[in-house]
Amino acid sequence: MAENLLEVKNLKKYFPVKAGVFKRTVAHVKAVDDISFAVKQGETLGLVGESGCGKSTTGRTILRLLEATEGEVVFEGKNIMELDKNEMRAIRRDMQIIFQDPYASLNPRMTVADIVGEPIDIHKLAKNKKERNQKVEEILENVGLGAEYMNRYPHEFSGGQRQRIGVARALAVDPKLIIADEPVSALDVSVQAQVVNLLQDLQQEYGLTYLFIAHDLSVVKHISDRVAVMYLGKIVELTDKKELYDNPLHPYTQSLLSAIPEADPKKKKDRIVLEGDVPSPVDPPSGCRFHPRCPKAFDLCPVKEPEFKEYGDGHFAACHLLEKE
Ligand SMILES: Nc1ncnc2c1ncn2[C@@H]1O[C@H](COP(=O)(O)OP(=O)(O)OP(=O)(O)O)[C@@H](O)[C@H]1O
Ligand SMILES: [Mg+2]
Repeated sequence: MAENLLEVKNLKKYFPVKAGVFKRTVAHVKAVDDISFAVKQGETLGLVGESGCGKSTTGRTILRLLEATEGEVVFEGKNIMELDKNEMRAIRRDMQIIFQDPYASLNPRMTVADIVGEPIDIHKLAKNKKERNQKVEEILENVGLGAEYMNRYPHEFSGGQRQRIGVARALAVDPKLIIADEPVSALDVSVQAQVVNLLQDLQQEYGLTYLFIAHDLSVVKHISDRVAVMYLGKIVELTDKKELYDNPLHPYTQSLLSAIPEADPKKKKDRIVLEGDVPSPVDPPSGCRFHPRCPKAFDLCPVKEPEFKEYGDGHFAACHLLEKE
């Protein structure tokens, strides 16, 4: 079995809510509230959940773009939460992020060569400008953009091409882990698959490990080996992709799956429509956070928080119904 490249242990990220003239902290947004998972060397772990459930905060806290409130992030056996700035710099090279919005994440005043070359300069990975530009050319070819684009600016490109530039920038430092934060959500459906396929090809070629964030299960279906489902700052279910799609245990996962259009009539499930909106992470519901919207909730659910436990080989879920069975 492959080793864990990344381990996230009891990670929490609370944002203070300030109010009044003295800007006192009056509450906290519990964006990520005690989550644990691991990503194995070479795999793709999908992280899925509705808007605001804490996916981006999870990604940014792992990379220490945000400081964690509590918990550990272990990368190649080292708890990186304890590293100082210099030690962190070396790790930064190994962990890269691809952002959702290829329009906002690329500096409009920089050429493609400089956007992709900047991380090479920062980490001093080329002896001189010539060598740097050779590297940039090579990477651009690998993401399906020719070297002839080197001196162009981001606005001259389509969304899909811009995301290829974002991917090239992440690849430039030869990372081990890429956190892809909804890399195709802002793209036309027709180009989404192209970019997902590209990421898959690059994974093989560069031996990459991915944490792939998406807000619905259809996007991660092809690329993921395993999938973690998040709801309101918690992971509610985590297992192999096939197991998740064939045998979802958590009612929230079941509702997300029922929303995916299914071409095969034998596999078609009745749509489970959740009532109400996602509650606020400032004051999450008691017990199981999903209970106010859960079609299967019973008396224990508002009272006690369900434990995240293993039900079958590598299949984890947090739901009181499963303990009853
Ligand atoms: N810097 C911040 N300060 C305060 N609250 C924040 C901050 N960043 C995120 N939040 C809050 O934390 C919660 C989780 O946000 P996050 O962006 O991680 O969600 P997400 O799952 O990535 O959503 P989306 O699918 O919309 O990208 C939300 O309630 C959000 O409003
Ligand atoms: Mg997000």
